[in-house]
Amino acid sequence: MPAFSTAALARQARGAPSEGLRGTCRLPGDKSLSQRALVCAALAVGESRLSNMLDSADVRATAQALMALGADIQFGQKGADWRVRGCGAGGFKPPQQTPDLGNAGTGARLLMGALAGSPHPVRLTGDASLRRRPMARVLAPLRAMGVEVQARQEEFLPARLSPPPRLMPLRFRLPLPSAQVKSALIFAALGAPGVSEICEPVPCRDHTERMLPLFGGRLRRMRLGRGWRIAVPGEQALRAAHIPIAGDPSAAAFALAAAVLCRGSAVRVQNCMLNPHRLGFVRALKRMGAPLKQTRARRCGGEQVAELQISAAPLRAFIGAPQDTPAMIDEIPILAIVAAFAKGRTRLAGLGELRVKESDRLQAIYDGLIANGVRVRCSADSLEIWGSEQVPGR
Ligand code: S3P
Repeated sequence: MPAFSTAALARQARGAPSEGLRGTCRLPGDKSLSQRALVCAALAVGESRLSNMLDSADVRATAQALMALGADIQFGQKGADWRVRGCGAGGFKPPQQTPDLGNAGTGARLLMGALAGSPHPVRLTGDASLRRRPMARVLAPLRAMGVEVQARQEEFLPARLSPPPRLMPLRFRLPLPSAQVKSALIFAALGAPGVSEICEPVPCRDHTERMLPLFGGRLRRMRLGRGWRIAVPGEQALRAAHIPIAGDPSAAAFALAAAVLCRGSAVRVQNCMLNPHRLGFVRALKRMGAPLKQTRARRCGGEQVAELQISAAPLRAFIGAPQDTPAMIDEIPILAIVAAFAKGRTRLAGLGELRVKESDRLQAIYDGLIANGVRVRCSADSLEIWGSEQVPGR
């Protein structure tokens, strides 16, 4: 999401009611799954086939970085499967040029973890926005495993990671619910001797844990309060796999929001991934009164998918607790727009992480709502939105 200036938006913001939307949406492949599938396939031995990959700039940037490290990747044209011939454990080659992750925060962090098992030092960089994003969350535990890191101001890209001849296994408790950090550390643990343990007190998306076994990887999850303790045996070899990528629930959120808000709408969204750690927005819509149905549930790779059906309905405000946020972290901007049309005052909490995404998303939401005449209050990590029924003069 680009950074907006309130003044510029205020000049541009124009709204007009839309006609009802009717039809069926086919979703692109999920970005989190596409990124993980590339990294797993690059660490595996043999040729993997990845179906329904998201062909986007971020995913391409990760793929290019892995190619610079020796993976052979053929991009499928027009929706065809991608083919990845992996390097095998410890098989990355020294890159000719510094791999550039562009704007891909997930790609950069996952790759840092995968590089812990590299036989030689590797420098990574990214675009201006990625070079400002916090990386200490991944680099600190990698340092604890023995990886020597030289990073701009100790924590920003460009960073040079020099793994030791023998990594140390990790024992780490995630200080924040970040699936990027958790996944990076799982990839790093694959290259360490012994068993590494990663504790997540607040659970977040678990795609890596579900996908790794499809590549022959082993890990164990044990309950830890509301979260998990994840034990990853080290020095594992992954083998190539065929991975169908489930449809992206973050992309689905926009179609669902448009349909529920436009009178006369009835929309179906096919092949939507149902990972419970990604469905916070769907659960919020239901609590707000949206008529949402799920049919045709089936397995797709390590995930569950289904068709979602939704139609327009009046909505009521939503009160979200901080622990609701990880499961809708990328959907907060569209949820804020839905809330602007719901009856009552919506409150969303635990939003601090939105400030360190590609842009300060919390500020961008605030600016966008203000420019559209919505009453909104924003703190360091929360939002309050007064729905249209309570906005005077509308
Ligand atoms: C992602 C995790 C989330 C999310 C991002 C993708 C992932 O980030 O916002 O778009 O694929 O693991 P955090 O791990 O920083 O919460």
